[in-house]
Amino acid sequence: MKIHGRSIVLIGMMGAGKSSVGRCLERRTGLTLLDTDEIVSSKFGMSIPEIFAKHGETKFREAEAKAVRAMAIPKKTIIVTGGGIVLQQENVELLRRMGVIVWLDGNEDTLFARASRRRNRPLLQTKNPRRTFSQIFDARRSLYADIADVRVDTSVLTDEEVSVAILSKLGKVNPGSRSPSPAT
Ligand code: S3P
Repeated sequence: MKIHGRSIVLIGMMGAGKSSVGRCLERRTGLTLLDTDEIVSSKFGMSIPEIFAKHGETKFREAEAKAVRAMAIPKKTIIVTGGGIVLQQENVELLRRMGVIVWLDGNEDTLFARASRRRNRPLLQTKNPRRTFSQIFDARRSLYADIADVRVDTSVLTDEEVSVAILSKLGKVNPGSRSPSPAT
């Protein structure tokens, strides 16, 4: 399977702003936006919390991986992923082949505040969502760091500022290098 182009792939924790930054990038670049959560949601015809409640996380993860496979098209796009995309090695390998991986990172408290603004994160529907978030954050950070070509700290930036930072970093990124650039 030959996968062309250098799509822009957004990864990172819930609350990092991947969907809204993706929309800013879509507007600024004119590229098509593909969002794994949206694809999975429309496949099931229900919201992400409903999928988790009715079918469970395993079925969600299977559909998420299927959505990533379907994105391996010869077209440069903006790819927005769910926070757990890095949990499956197959996803990681495909995404790396599709494009430059941009990790939207941030201060843990800020990310949690954003992620818990709406009750649409099934993984945070626990007795102690703050602690759950912390556990997920700790478990995922090294996975994001391993796959990222570029890292942007979104803590004090607006979505538009993040998208400008990404485009400016991508102007400088060396396609052969896989180590994330420090956030500015
Ligand atoms: C998840 C993140 C969510 C969504 C699902 C699982 C995760 O997407 O895919 O609730 O495992 O971190 P966002 O990162 O857009 O919130």
